[in-house]
Amino acid sequence: MFLHCDKTASHYVRVALDKVFGMNNFQSEIVWNYKRWSNSKKGLLNTHQVIYFYSKTSDFKFNQIYTDYSPTTNIDQILQERERDKNGKSIYKKDEDGNIVLAKGKKGVPLSDVWDIPYLNPKAKERVGYPTQKPVSLLQQIIKLCTNEEDVVLDPFCGSGTTCVAAKLLNRVYMGIDLSTDAVELANNRLKELVVSESNLVKNGVESYVGKTDKELALLKSIGAIPVQRNVGIDGFLQQQINGKPIPIRIQKKYETLDDTIRALDNAKQTKHSDVKIIIQTNDNRGLFQLDTDAVVLPSNELVIKEKLKGIGFRVDNGGDVHKIGQI
Ligand SMILES: C[S@@+](CC[C@H](N)C(=O)[O-])C[C@H]1O[C@@H](n2cnc3c(N)ncnc32)[C@H](O)[C@@H]1O
Repeated sequence: MFLHCDKTASHYVRVALDKVFGMNNFQSEIVWNYKRWSNSKKGLLNTHQVIYFYSKTSDFKFNQIYTDYSPTTNIDQILQERERDKNGKSIYKKDEDGNIVLAKGKKGVPLSDVWDIPYLNPKAKERVGYPTQKPVSLLQQIIKLCTNEEDVVLDPFCGSGTTCVAAKLLNRVYMGIDLSTDAVELANNRLKELVVSESNLVKNGVESYVGKTDKELALLKSIGAIPVQRNVGIDGFLQQQINGKPIPIRIQKKYETLDDTIRALDNAKQTKHSDVKIIIQTNDNRGLFQLDTDAVVLPSNELVIKEKLKGIGFRVDNGGDVHKIGQI
């Protein structure tokens, strides 16, 4: 049960909801955080709303959602197992020979109760003009968290039908109720043609705005890897491990030869723990030395297409335009 409420009423609402659903069934107070620009009033700009999460009993469905590590996370924190010393202080775990112990496969950071999801901007494609309309991505996150495909989602105050749209997109069975016939009509129309505004923030995570380009993030996502920031040699790790060891990934940078990429990955100190390393090759500049590497070199889709086009007499220039070979 997810209930959204206005900040001015939140304390009273919480007391009332505890009475209805039972204090023990309260799970979380979710802060929906977004950016908004206004200089209209004296005081702090309000840029969040509160959503209360209650379950019916203590036995409720909950699908953990993982998010990327924050840019300030030290890469060793991701790779190494931790334990508490005798004073209760968290330390890196060592085995009896004093070697560090590698962490089991990590999927990222479990979703917290503060959600960064953009507010619908006035020109958003999905906006239908309903005054209290919520973004579909907010409802999708709620639905993913506590239901599986084909489960039933009910919104008894559905307004413009955002919950139903999100549920339909996620293959859930849905029901919406509203006392306004205009709202019901609007919701039914929205369900005929699903429109969602894509947000890079939601797609890639807040952390994506630091360090990595959209292209790099897309490449990492396409192979199910978790991006890491602030590391000169490594761009990410696969979610799977091999022999209990992490699999680091480096993407060849635009102005880097493959030799440079191989050196950068080899020099990253965290790769010495790994049996398998991956390089994603993005251009055909191998470099002078044509270095050997024990890393698995995967061509990016873009490079595969370039090579195929070359095979049939075309070349792709740096701007992405395609020319017949021999022509400028
Ligand atoms: C905050 S809006 C919901 C907006 C919705 N989340 C969206 O994204 O469009 C609340 C809705 O509850 C409806 N409503 C209010 N009292 C109701 C009642 N007793 N039974 C059914 N619907 C009701 C209103 O007509 C309004 O559309």
